[in-house]
Amino acid sequence: MKLKRLIGEEEIEGKVKEIAKQIEKTFKGKFIIISLLKGAFIFTADLVRNIERQVEVYFMKVKSYKGQRSGELQVELLPKVNLKGKKVLIVDEILDSGKSLKFAKEWVQREGAGEVKVCVLLEKEKEKEVKADIVGFKIPNYFVVGYGLDLDEKFRNLPYIAKVEGEEA
Ligand code: IMP
Ligand code: MG
Repeated sequence: MKLKRLIGEEEIEGKVKEIAKQIEKTFKGKFIIISLLKGAFIFTADLVRNIERQVEVYFMKVKSYKGQRSGELQVELLPKVNLKGKKVLIVDEILDSGKSLKFAKEWVQREGAGEVKVCVLLEKEKEKEVKADIVGFKIPNYFVVGYGLDLDEKFRNLPYIAKVEGEEA
């Protein structure tokens, strides 16, 4: 297995600032962020520090199984927050099949949010179950790690995003 650098630290930093501006334009006034663990923890931390607005941050943890167990979704953590009539931004680091984000969006809607938008740093080129409103980078259908993204819990701490090459990818 080999890692090939795909998106560098400075490029990520610039994009995060751009996304923050887009978010400020999307919502008028205060809003709530729901960040999807674990992958989005680094993106969320960088993103909120670039948002010059009153914002509350909550976390949700959903696991979507791939391959043989595709379609099965395991909910591990739901935020305890009243979303009635609120503006909500769901933040994830990558949009792959869209299963997890679809669940998150429907959950937020069921909780009675007034407005729901989805923001992702990366979006893979493939069929998805949900659309993101704000997208940082569009990438081919690669398996990537770093900046929060893992391969069996490894490489989340890489400050850049890398493509995994080799048999395990
Ligand atoms: P989805 O439900 O298929 O869209 O998958 C969503 C989650 O799977 C993402 O939030 C990531 O945590 C994980 N994931 C999807 N693609 C990758 C990848 O290329 N590398 C690492 N994790 C990924
Ligand atoms: Mg994730």
